[in-house]
Amino acid sequence: MTLVCLSDFEAYAKKHLPKPIWDYFAAGADECYTRDDNLMAYKRIYLRPRVLRDMSTIDPRTTILGSEIDFPVGIAPTGFHGLACPDGEQSTARAAEAMNTCYIASTYSTFSVEEIVAAAPTGLRWFQLYLHRNRRFSEQLVQRVNALGFQALVLTVDVPYAGKRRNDIRNNYQFLKSIQVKNFKGAFEDEDQTEYGLPPGSIDPSINWNDITWLQSLTQLPIIIKGILTKEDAELAVRHGVQGIIVSNHGGRQLDGVLPTIATLGEVTTAVQGKIEVYLDGGIRTGNDVLKALALGAKCVFIGRPTMWGLAYKGKEGLQELLKILKDEFCLSMALTDACNSLTWFDALVTDIWTHPI
Ligand code: FNR
Repeated sequence: MTLVCLSDFEAYAKKHLPKPIWDYFAAGADECYTRDDNLMAYKRIYLRPRVLRDMSTIDPRTTILGSEIDFPVGIAPTGFHGLACPDGEQSTARAAEAMNTCYIASTYSTFSVEEIVAAAPTGLRWFQLYLHRNRRFSEQLVQRVNALGFQALVLTVDVPYAGKRRNDIRNNYQFLKSIQVKNFKGAFEDEDQTEYGLPPGSIDPSINWNDITWLQSLTQLPIIIKGILTKEDAELAVRHGVQGIIVSNHGGRQLDGVLPTIATLGEVTTAVQGKIEVYLDGGIRTGNDVLKALALGAKCVFIGRPTMWGLAYKGKEGLQELLKILKDEFCLSMALTDACNSLTWFDALVTDIWTHPI
């Protein structure tokens, strides 16, 4: 079977995964408007190709927080990769390492941070943190990832409570039955446990800007805030001395009815004025999508659900194949817009119908 685009991987995963697991990966909040608009919004942005600029060499490399990656697409943090393939996050880490891009490992990984590093010791890895009510546990986790050579902390700030995902409720969260979150092993032994080793409601809903300062007191690692959608919060992030922002609406899984991320990216990059790096996730499915996000100011983008589809297809090899397709598509988009290898030309490459109605 030849899979030629990310939608082919999606169709394969939908066909082969057990329904409750597929539903968990695909879920959006409430009516799923934002989940679906994340994808559709790219299709309402049009490219302005230039010509006659010698496209004989194309260079998609970039840097994020000073580390070079082979192309501007990384792996967004998503939980429970063990549901997609047996080697779970170890496969993810190996695929990202092989493609020389960044993997953001989730707090909710089925494999422990130690096991993830052992699988791909030279890969560029960041760690995504949820703050738990049990601060001692979060503190210890930060120390562990620091010692293991993770190069940044990605603090997710859009989950004071989990969004309402209807199919997960209908399925009675069956996908959780087979999961162990090894990062939590032993951490909550004295508390009431769910099936996956975590006490119910353990993410701290009191999370606020003072916690950024608290985190900075724990570690020298760069901090990136994931889940910012407005200029007001972007300005606060800069003022709190973080090193980066991921413009994200959690793939439409949290608050339904917010703007697609590509539509709010401009507001955030304008507010930040180049003082820190801005990244984006949500709805990236083609090389053209990547190019549009870069043209609107993102330094790099990240993929969430497609990671699961690649793993479900063939583990590490499947995810690597998917990343390779996205890289090739992005290179072709660069070539056909005559963006060559100078990312500074990208900003002239899109016509945004919100500002230029057709
Ligand atoms: C997520 N996401 C997420 N984010 C995070 O910070 N920590 C996490 O553990 C998870 N877990 C998770 C599981 C699943 C199944 C999905 C689909 C998403 C959100 C993720 O990082 C990202 O923001 C979105 O997935 C990006 O949108 P796309 O690429 O899925 O459209």
